[in-house]
Amino acid sequence: MDPIEHARRRKPWNRAFSTAALKEYQPIVTRRTAQLIEGLMGEVGTTDLAKWISYYAYDFMGDMVFGGGTEMLREGDRDGLWRLLKNGMSIAVIYEHVPWLSYYTRHLPGLGNDLKRLRAMAFERTIQRYNRGSLTKDLFYYLSNEDQAETESPPRHIVISDGLIALIAGSDTTATTLSNVFYCLLTHPETYKRLQDEVDKYYPLGEDALNPEHHVHMTYLDAVINETMRLFPAVSSGSLRAPIRGTGGKTVGPYYLPEGTQARLHVYSLQRDARYFTQPESFWPDRWLIAEGLQKFSGQFVHDPNAFIPFSFGTANCVGKNLAMLEMRMVMCNCMQKLEMNFAEGWDSEMWLRDLEDVFVTRMGQLPVTIRKRE
Ligand code: HEM
Repeated sequence: MDPIEHARRRKPWNRAFSTAALKEYQPIVTRRTAQLIEGLMGEVGTTDLAKWISYYAYDFMGDMVFGGGTEMLREGDRDGLWRLLKNGMSIAVIYEHVPWLSYYTRHLPGLGNDLKRLRAMAFERTIQRYNRGSLTKDLFYYLSNEDQAETESPPRHIVISDGLIALIAGSDTTATTLSNVFYCLLTHPETYKRLQDEVDKYYPLGEDALNPEHHVHMTYLDAVINETMRLFPAVSSGSLRAPIRGTGGKTVGPYYLPEGTQARLHVYSLQRDARYFTQPESFWPDRWLIAEGLQKFSGQFVHDPNAFIPFSFGTANCVGKNLAMLEMRMVMCNCMQKLEMNFAEGWDSEMWLRDLEDVFVTRMGQLPVTIRKRE
């Protein structure tokens, strides 16, 4: 809400996501991606791909923020943390609209318990991480000023709060987007095949698909990710904005927002608007290649990149975008290289769409698939 305070708090995040810092995280992404693929290869019969991807994203962010501690890929949601995160979001989305409610419910036994447990978990693990010190340059290293870039280190409650933000902002969003990518691929076999061909070109079997060096050339891979994020943005309703306190309000285009009014730009609707995208409801990755001049198209073509904001825009946009893209590209290259996937026999894929729920981030249901190792 306060741009000066936001800019101050954002500083360590910007350091944490510099190009150099991102390189340091690569071994963590690689290790978890390899573990995900190994786990999926070991699955016999039908398995819930969305659950696997969620565990992957959560374990990865746990490594990043707290230097490890969760092993959902290995042990499942043994401590109920994933469930906690999901339920905590449903409460948080109510508080987002009725903030004063939280002052009352925190005193009522039973209410908001999941959110309280989530905070307690973040508190406990932050303290553990403080005590352990940094083994690698993870996100915590920057958030807690272990890099000594600032003269004063932030107080612990700010670091705890930032850690929880990272866990929520970085796990759910990536998991939902990746799961939606696979949903789109499995409902569009011709796209699946074309992407597999691109992966086979850069990472034929035997080639190390954990090495991201070819990502930069994989235009179809990015087209598929972009097209999925256009149709299924992880934060469908966008995040809140409001006039700065003490300014008396703000005029935005033809609208006047009085002070104390919250506003949001509904990303899902914007990105499916025919004024900005040709055939807006169709899953058509080629539009990204046409827009870049990499592919020819005759006919009327509308493509407005300003109307594509899955990572939001402006000074408070998603700071983790490049990390998320690295994770998604790496998981996709490895899955497409090593596995052959199909929807579970007899499963109605419309179920996926019916189960998607907007609770600030998108909550998803199950994605039952069968997996076979590629020879
Ligand atoms: C596909 C994956 C992701 C998507 C679609 C996504 C999307 C978003 C969106 C829409 C926002 C709101 C920005 C605003 O209010 O203007 C946001 C904020 C944020 N995201 Fe992401 N995100 C993703 C992954 C990540 C990852 C991996 C991290 C790593 C920690 C991360 C960290 C953050 C943080 C810290 C913010 C708050 C930024 C601020 O207020 O300055 N995100 N993200």
